[in-house]
Amino acid sequence: MPSWWERHGVPRLIKCACSQGQIMKLRSQVVPQASGDVLELGCGGGINMEFYDPARVARFSGLDPSPELLAMSRAAAQARGIDADIRGGIGEAMPFESGRFDTVVTTFTLCSVADPAAVLAEIRRVLKPGGTALFLEHGAAPDAGVAKWQRRIEPLWKRIGGNCHLTRPIADAYARAGFAVDRRGARYMPKTPRPFGWVEYGAAHAS
Ligand SMILES: C[S@@+](CC[C@H](N)C(=O)[O-])C[C@H]1O[C@@H](n2cnc3c(N)ncnc32)[C@H](O)[C@@H]1O
Repeated sequence: MPSWWERHGVPRLIKCACSQGQIMKLRSQVVPQASGDVLELGCGGGINMEFYDPARVARFSGLDPSPELLAMSRAAAQARGIDADIRGGIGEAMPFESGRFDTVVTTFTLCSVADPAAVLAEIRRVLKPGGTALFLEHGAAPDAGVAKWQRRIEPLWKRIGGNCHLTRPIADAYARAGFAVDRRGARYMPKTPRPFGWVEYGAAHAS
């Protein structure tokens, strides 16, 4: 049974932390590249909805386990007149047939899932051969001093922040899952404490 904090506090924390100006700017560079039959995994909150290009997206599906964040996501789709199939579920076991999607989008989601390797395997499964996984994620910093603080903070932070991990590799994890990765950016977010601020974004292609 989720606690009061998990049901009410975490969704608000996510909405607030994930809508800062610099993050919105990165979203605006990544999300509009989605095309064709599109899945957003971890679509909770609906913050990305404003960035999809209706001329490029033929069909939109979303998947997320949080009922509260799903409600926000559905409201965001409705407000934009997007006919979306937004469902409850987890990335480790997606309710979609293999080879269905042209694009899978994940933003700030790999940090929070229970099993990143299983999720990446599922993303590969549901993508068409040659399909694209667009990612914008925060995770393990390349500097030893920052990485040390990430390891120290993570055990407490993941309890407050909806299972958000700080030490997970991003582009490397996609590569290990068998994607050809085009990492287009990697940096510390300005005005963000470095243990929370390392982001990587790009496109990973399924073979
Ligand atoms: C930090 S929030 C980011 C939300 C959204 N992707 C964004 O960019 O604003 C992490 C999201 O991952 C979702 N999530 C957690 N575990 C998941 C899982 N196993 N599979 C898919 N999504 C998951 C959460 O419900 C939440 O919506």
